[in-house]
Amino acid sequence: MSAASRRPSPSASDAVISLRNVSYRLPGGRVLLEGLTLEAARGETLVLLGRSGSGKTTTMRLVNRLLEPSAGEVLVEGRATPEWDAIQLRRHIGYVIQETGLFPHFTIERNIALVPSLEGWPPERIRERVAELMELVGLPAEMASRYPRQLSGGQRQRVGVARALAADPPILLMDEPFGALDPITRADIQREFRALQKRLAKTILFVTHDLREALVLGDRIALLEGGRLMGLYTPAEFQRADEPLAAAYLAAFRAGDATGAG
Ligand SMILES: Nc1ncnc2c1ncn2[C@@H]1O[C@H](COP(=O)(O)OP(=O)(O)OP(=O)(O)O)[C@@H](O)[C@H]1O
Ligand SMILES: [Mg+2]
Repeated sequence: MSAASRRPSPSASDAVISLRNVSYRLPGGRVLLEGLTLEAARGETLVLLGRSGSGKTTTMRLVNRLLEPSAGEVLVEGRATPEWDAIQLRRHIGYVIQETGLFPHFTIERNIALVPSLEGWPPERIRERVAELMELVGLPAEMASRYPRQLSGGQRQRVGVARALAADPPILLMDEPFGALDPITRADIQREFRALQKRLAKTILFVTHDLREALVLGDRIALLEGGRLMGLYTPAEFQRADEPLAAAYLAAFRAGDATGAG
């Protein structure tokens, strides 16, 4: 399918992912998310930025209905998630989970091929797709027959990205997909990711706690803290924001740059 044929028409530009006043409470009553309202437009990369424990992964899990909101609504393609068939919803959404979640007893090839296999693609088409994806994420072809334990952490993360892309879902949830990569590989893969974003026009929720990554990859940045949305910015707006939390991120970022650590 060509990139042009996938590009949304203006009338299809409504929010693809929409959280409306969403709260999530644990059965014991502890509040993990409170009154979260957020939308991702078609083709947009919306970054969720926030420190550890701020509720980023919880937000992702609400979108593909691994969790259901205690209050408010989560809509995907304009339909509330409880109205979706759960399996259809999850096949519509590629998910790169934070700990990669590869099956240890499956080879890399079988891990990447998971959804295409479930969808009954012919074996030859699956093999071609796996080879194409491994090249895309920069994994040597001979790794296809290895098991996850025989790869480095960064290589496993790339398998996780390939697996999420395998059946070409229109929506991607990516939870710190490049977190285990060294800075040089990470910069390379970020560059490729940006090129891919332009070409594939996916709607992406992308979690990071790295401001540099958020500024490079995000069309917009949602700043979370303690389960609440503290602000929503374009990268340019973030860089001149004077809200205390955004300013603190910027100050830490610039201090890191000044010492060469960022
Ligand atoms: N099932 C659970 N039981 C108890 N606490 C939970 C549960 N799930 C999440 N939490 C807590 O909810 C908060 C938000 O968790 P979440 O995983 O969304 O954070 P996060 O922003 O993804 O953090 P990180 O950057 O460390 O991955 C954390 O304080 C976490 O300990
Ligand atoms: Mg998390």
